[in-house]
Amino acid sequence: MAGSRGAVDDGARPFVPARHTLPVMREAVQACRGCPLWRAATQAVFGVGTARARVVMIGEEPGDREDRAGVPFVGPAGHLLDEGLAAAGIARRDAYLTNAVKHFKYTLRGKRRIHRKPTRAEVEACRPWLDAELETLAPAAVVLLGATAAQALLGAAFRVTKSRGVVAAPGLAAFVVATVHPASVLRAVDAAARAAAKAAFFADLAVAGAWLARRGRA
Ligand code: URA
Ligand code: SF4
Repeated sequence: MAGSRGAVDDGARPFVPARHTLPVMREAVQACRGCPLWRAATQAVFGVGTARARVVMIGEEPGDREDRAGVPFVGPAGHLLDEGLAAAGIARRDAYLTNAVKHFKYTLRGKRRIHRKPTRAEVEACRPWLDAELETLAPAAVVLLGATAAQALLGAAFRVTKSRGVVAAPGLAAFVVATVHPASVLRAVDAAARAAAKAAFFADLAVAGAWLARRGRA
């Protein structure tokens, strides 16, 4: 009993290998039982990109398409993110894309799998994977995509609506930007609201792109 409770409290920690290389972790994450989300998901979705990436983009959790593909940001939100990265002048080889939570959480409505937001406990349980990715990558810049990622790394009181843009997060990276989640742009109520949300999202990404360009290649 004490053992099983310990496993829950530790979340993903017992499943993260001592050697934090990306290929080793990408394989090991499939065996993670650090919280209940693995049960209903197809597979874990680890980050994508190389260890030399200069900027880490952190989303919430994989969506329906990502769960099937095993790769983050391949669905509609990912397409918008790709467009924003290109507009910001951030090359794909410079970016590592990942999520705060590695398994898709959903409810079934008929045959459709409807996204559900991870709880704070699930985000906390999955945190050792994200910490290990950040430790391995030691990125110059981090972009937090939406409230789940921002609150995971900046604290539960953080509000993207109030404090989006460049934020101080010593210990995380030299340069940190908190912005909205691309899926929130796609959910905007009408075309005008969507255009405004997209412009603001792209502007946040552009700030990160400009900083990376100024800093030059390491
Ligand atoms: N939304 C996310 O937060 N992450 C993905 O990988 C896809 C959609
Ligand atoms: Fe492990 Fe994270 Fe998946 Fe939970 S969501 S089982 S902590 S990889």
